[in-house]
Amino acid sequence: MVNLPGNRGSCWVAGAGSAGYSPLDSSIHAETVVVGGGIVGLTTALRLREAGRSVILVEALEIGRQVTGRATAKITTQHALIYRHLIDILDLATARSYADANTAGAALLKDWIREYAIACDLERKDAYTYTISPKGREEIVAEAEAARQVGLQAQVLDRAPLPFETTGALCFSDQAQFNPAKYLVGLAKAVVDQGGRIYEHSRAILIGEASRWRAVTASGTVHAEHVVVATNMTVKSPVGMANRTQPRCHTAMAFRVDDPLVVDGMFIGVDDPTHSIRTGSDGTSPLLVVLGPKFNTGQDGNVAARFVELEEWARKSWAVGDVAWRWCNEDYDTADRVPYVGEPDPEQAPGFHIATGFNAWGISNGTAAGMMIADTILGHSSPWRSLYDPTRPYPKDFHKNGDSQSIVRSTNDIRPREGGVILRGDEKIAVCRDSDGSLRAVSASCTHKGCTVTWNNADRTWDCPCHGSIFASDGVGDPWSGPQAACSGGTVAKPTGR
Ligand SMILES: Cc1cc2nc3c(=O)[nH]c(=O)nc-3n(C[C@H](O)[C@H](O)[C@H](O)COP(=O)(O)OP(=O)(O)OC[C@H]3O[C@@H](n4cnc5c(N)ncnc54)[C@H](O)[C@@H]3O)c2cc1C
Ligand code: FES
Repeated sequence: MVNLPGNRGSCWVAGAGSAGYSPLDSSIHAETVVVGGGIVGLTTALRLREAGRSVILVEALEIGRQVTGRATAKITTQHALIYRHLIDILDLATARSYADANTAGAALLKDWIREYAIACDLERKDAYTYTISPKGREEIVAEAEAARQVGLQAQVLDRAPLPFETTGALCFSDQAQFNPAKYLVGLAKAVVDQGGRIYEHSRAILIGEASRWRAVTASGTVHAEHVVVATNMTVKSPVGMANRTQPRCHTAMAFRVDDPLVVDGMFIGVDDPTHSIRTGSDGTSPLLVVLGPKFNTGQDGNVAARFVELEEWARKSWAVGDVAWRWCNEDYDTADRVPYVGEPDPEQAPGFHIATGFNAWGISNGTAAGMMIADTILGHSSPWRSLYDPTRPYPKDFHKNGDSQSIVRSTNDIRPREGGVILRGDEKIAVCRDSDGSLRAVSASCTHKGCTVTWNNADRTWDCPCHGSIFASDGVGDPWSGPQAACSGGTVAKPTGR
């Protein structure tokens, strides 16, 4: 067992209060039920309330603590190298639409922070995509040209304002960063102040059709004309999303620093291994936040080693203090790097809306998604429908399932605070050993589609290598991410009693 430094958890969540809403405990009706209180769900809900429409939001866990609350939380239209790619593989009009949607998403988010006085540490920052290689420099020059073609201001610099050698950087000035968990708690308050209703600890265990739609939780039901599945990865959808997407995971660390301007700007590298860098605070001290390269969720058997590497990498360039926080986060990639948002089947399933596949750029895209879904419910047209079309074709070989990386021969091979998967005939058992040596066993088969889970030795979770469901180590805790978070009924891996 590698003893990693720092508290397990996101520095943003640490600094944000709880929203504190009660669970749903009755059968009620609204025009729209939003399932999921992340950035997509809350944006949709507030937009609908601002238009005077009735809306109820049910959140499985607590507002602001899941994918959005673990993001790097850069509010920017600079999504590393994206516009050259979109022009090349799609077309200029689509690339412009992507830029417009994200410009609008970022603008609405900042307007709401002002309008609703949401204290979420919003700071104006320049965004930099940097490179340390000559090839990367060429890509940055090409990206700058593409950004200008789609109407964005972009500047190529000879070096990034970072303490290590770079061969160039692309700068988008006047972007922003914030604490996303504080923002979501504030957004939820705005929804409720505007007359919306929010229920926490209210996992939708069934989303189905009744007279129209219904979202059923353990202790209540919401009936509605529209349902918005804003659960990051959808499980219920007339058009399956699991094979159109690939779950990606990152490690993140927040170090204590004295200088709140230890770096001035938000940075993302283009060379392998890529890193993302920004500053922040957890209310105790300024922090330097760094992220490591992406990997497919559940397909790495030693996530702890990634934290060790990330810490070494950060300490080479900055005189940082202790590791205050460390966490993993995941999001879903799409083949063309554009999210899937909208009504997948307006003929057969009218009023059913989804949003997923944000490619780790769901702060601005997720806000635009919420705007678009609300506009559809309000009967308005949206210029981004074809951009985000959730039924557009995709390469069938894009999604890659993986195998468990944690197979061991016997429980003797499992050290304290570690986990392993034991195969007994057809049975697969996920076993983890507590610090006192006692064992806990659950089924290792993910109940989404039966893949065998991998032990995440940093977060101490069971991660599915197929579609990214992430379960508590006892297997009975609520999954916080992935398709099983969406409609599993809470318990996914069943305790085996061993
Ligand atoms: C490492 C990392 C860094 C990132 N950094 C950035 C960045 O700097 N800028 C940027 O633009 N984007 C960034 N992103 C992407 C962005 O964070 C996400 O795309 C976005 O937050 C997704 O929002 P969401 O509302 O879909 O998901 P979430 O915030 O996870 O919200 C979904 C909610 O649904 C709830 N839920 C799930 N199932 C149910 C159910 N059955 N019933 C009720 N509720 C349910 C969950 O509990 C959760 O609260 C990053 C992503 C990663 C992985
Ligand atoms: S998330 Fe699909 S099989 Fe586990």
